[in-house]
Amino acid sequence: MMQPDLFGAARDDIVLSTGALFLPGFAVAEVVTLLAHIRTIAVCSPFRHMITPGGRRMSVAMTSCGRFGWTSGREGYGYTSHDPDSGQAWPLMPPVFRELARKAATRAGFADFSPDTCLVNRYAPGTRLSLHQDLDEGDMSAPIVSVSLGLPAIFLWGGPMRSDTRRRIMLHEGDVMVWGREARMNFHGVEPLPPGNGTCRYNLTFRKAR
Ligand code: SIN
Ligand code: FE2
Repeated sequence: MMQPDLFGAARDDIVLSTGALFLPGFAVAEVVTLLAHIRTIAVCSPFRHMITPGGRRMSVAMTSCGRFGWTSGREGYGYTSHDPDSGQAWPLMPPVFRELARKAATRAGFADFSPDTCLVNRYAPGTRLSLHQDLDEGDMSAPIVSVSLGLPAIFLWGGPMRSDTRRRIMLHEGDVMVWGREARMNFHGVEPLPPGNGTCRYNLTFRKAR
């Protein structure tokens, strides 16, 4: 049982830097439900390997749910209200997603987080996400809430400059990270997943796109 301390954070929470909190196992009880919802989302808006404006195929497969979804192509990248592959609105954000994101944000000191998008990433063994900042969201006062599912992976947590030193954090299924305020523009990425047995890692990131 995690005991809240004087500041409201639980003892097992790990402050990575000001504005960034690692909540190991925070979503463990919801893992099965979250994975079932990902399968449903992918029926309407299947995972796809997007193309960067520079013409490179991303090794991470992605889809989205919520009012907006993130897309990339030769013409640029950003949030859209429709899935360009299906022409339909993105699948609705399941209430259990929204509530989990809100609960995690509250724990990290971001009250009333109301995400309008959830980006769903799928990492097969060998897949990585290179070091980047999340800069496409219109509301930078809102945090990013990230939920890890499936295979573990090493998350790279840097600073506001690309050259800042990085921490390597092993993320397991059910782990949650929240970053905002001073940490909102910090560089981060995911190291290549080691060769595996056919399963994948999934990551949900909740954001306020508009
Ligand atoms: C992201 O940076 O958008 C995803 C991070 C992750 O997969 O853990
Ligand atoms: Fe990111």
